[in-house]
Amino acid sequence: TSIVHVLGARPNLVKAAPVIAALRGLDQVVLHTGQHYDARMSQIFFDELGLPEPDVNLGVGSGSHAAQTAALMVGLEREFARLRPELVVVYGDVNSTIAAALVAAKLHIPVAHVEAGLRSFDMTMPEEVNRRLTDQLSDLCFVTSPEAIGHLANEGIPVQRAHFVGNPMIDTLLANLDAFDTDRVRATHALPDRYVLATMHRPANVDDPNTAATLVQHLHGVADLTDLVIPVHPRGRANLLAAGLDQHPGVHILQPLGYIDFIAAVRGAATVVTDSGGLQEETTILGVPCLTVRPNTERPITITHGTNRLVTFEELVPAARKTLAADRHPPGEAPPLWDGKAGPRIADVIRRWKEAK
Ligand code: UD1
Repeated sequence: TSIVHVLGARPNLVKAAPVIAALRGLDQVVLHTGQHYDARMSQIFFDELGLPEPDVNLGVGSGSHAAQTAALMVGLEREFARLRPELVVVYGDVNSTIAAALVAAKLHIPVAHVEAGLRSFDMTMPEEVNRRLTDQLSDLCFVTSPEAIGHLANEGIPVQRAHFVGNPMIDTLLANLDAFDTDRVRATHALPDRYVLATMHRPANVDDPNTAATLVQHLHGVADLTDLVIPVHPRGRANLLAAGLDQHPGVHILQPLGYIDFIAAVRGAATVVTDSGGLQEETTILGVPCLTVRPNTERPITITHGTNRLVTFEELVPAARKTLAADRHPPGEAPPLWDGKAGPRIADVIRRWKEAK
């Protein structure tokens, strides 16, 4: 086999679709680790994004970090030994990403990391640990934003490994722009005319019941201003509901949405409240104000160029009041190379790398 793409969690699927499409013609295997396994977290994305069905599914599922990462590594080692790929391509910063990079490196298989060099400098985030270690193990580091190259250099990674290619998640967004029909998603999910869309799933926000309860109070404060639509990620669902998230007449709880409905709902939102990584980028391009409930971001370009702003729990309601009061938002400036062509750029680098080998 020439290339194995390792996909595990929902955002990986959005990033991989344009890369796999641009590499068409090469011998590629799509390996799904099964980190995300609910149909709404996985299959619907394959269908909507035109991703090829996985050739292999490890069915790893959930567990503690150690248990999940260990199960990922055992399954990946077996498959890499069988497939003998020339290159393993990993995406983002989830446990499947670091597990695949570590296994490949030990088998002397080169690794390409899509979305390398992002740093929150917050090692309490599992994703920051995954990002740093994955980059150390990667031969090709594909970066979405120029400052990432400096981060890699500061960690001793040779700059020749870094390739500034733009943002494949934005390729997927731009390719589907015509499909994001806000009126249709309003009708199918009974959304109010004007709403704030919220998503919350970070361990730091939802894993501790007391923190989740405080967060819910502030989300209710937003719902006092305008209706709040919140598709609930499986992580944190129990804590947010136990804290009474749905006990407010303005709160509309939804199941996780597929990609097309989700971005359509984002496009129609008056403001987005989130702790997601990718959504900071998607709102930047869609021009929707984004309040990120985190102390830091690995995606600062969404603040300097886009619509993103970091807020504490206490700042959330006043910030939402402000974005909701502004009736028009000046469109942000698209960050450099977020132009829908990251997938082809990545494919070019991989093709040249293969020829040079
Ligand atoms: C993972 C990523 C996170 C990413 C998120 C996107 C890591 C360390 N974290 O977090 O960076 O933002 O995906 O969604 O890899 N569960 C289900 N069904 C599923 C998947 C998960 O019910 O299909 C539940 C399980 O109870 C599980 C929990 O969600 O224990 C957490 O899943 P896990 O894969 O560990 O991490 P995420 O929180 O989804």
